[in-house]
Amino acid sequence: MNYTPVRISTLRPDKPLNFGIYIYFKDQHLLYVKSGDAIEREKFNQLKKQKITKFFIQRDEELNYQQYLDQILSDTIADEGIDLDTKVDLVQGTTFVALDRMEKDPKSQISYQMTKTAAKSVARVVMGKQDALFALYEKESEIGEEIVKHSMNVCAICVKMAEMLKCSGKEIETISIAALIHDLGIKEEQKPLFNKNQDDMNSEQKITYNKHTKEGLNEFVYLDWISKEVVELAQLHEENLTGMGPYKKTKLSKLEEILSLVNAYDKQVMISGLKPLDVIKEFKLNGIGKYDLKMIQALERVIKIGFV
Ligand SMILES: [Fe+2]
Ligand SMILES: [Fe+2]
Repeated sequence: MNYTPVRISTLRPDKPLNFGIYIYFKDQHLLYVKSGDAIEREKFNQLKKQKITKFFIQRDEELNYQQYLDQILSDTIADEGIDLDTKVDLVQGTTFVALDRMEKDPKSQISYQMTKTAAKSVARVVMGKQDALFALYEKESEIGEEIVKHSMNVCAICVKMAEMLKCSGKEIETISIAALIHDLGIKEEQKPLFNKNQDDMNSEQKITYNKHTKEGLNEFVYLDWISKEVVELAQLHEENLTGMGPYKKTKLSKLEEILSLVNAYDKQVMISGLKPLDVIKEFKLNGIGKYDLKMIQALERVIKIGFV
């Protein structure tokens, strides 16, 4: 039997489950709560306290999980009485489950469906509240999950920037999904280079790293349920106006420019350890020629709203 990992942050206490959840113990999956039952609140809080956060569901019950998740996402995000931290936890959990599933099984339609749901939820949370961007950004990730965390940050900032630059609802949807999947092309071979500044890579390392925008994402190109615009936008996330990117583009559309700038910005915050506004300052000094100054200024406005 096949199992899919899910997070406790995507489940709700006292709400009956329409799928069974399993724990992994001594090399086997054991049924923990059966379909139709709920996790009682006391047990739920105890699990969280003990940091038992990962569960499994059976692959053939994924659709039920997806329905359950859709329901709690729309209920939770819309509920004014629920605090931001709970919302951010749920959205982060959804993103982790979706991208994990997408990485392991990129050709599954349901993985993409989950990713779309996750992107929509990130957008709804950050567009609704001024302090949501900061709350999302500050959420810590576990070791080995830096790429997913980075993708979620990029998604959140892109949405806010696209909103500020008056992009349409359709464009915001496109960029939010592209942002979540943009680095899914990073395979084991490229992972050690993820935390390295592009300017410090030798030419061999650059060739290896650039593959993540080409071969790495190629498997999505032929799947007809993934929008062409989304894949193309994701493929161009390492371009900039100098023409030095993997595809040597010198002209970028508005969405392409937003995604590549936000991607470069978030990577720089991560690698340098500098404060967000200091990274913006650096981009204003060294990023001219790579990005339109107006774009950098729009990013600065978003960061100021979110972080200052
Ligand atoms: Fe990348
Ligand atoms: Fe990236």
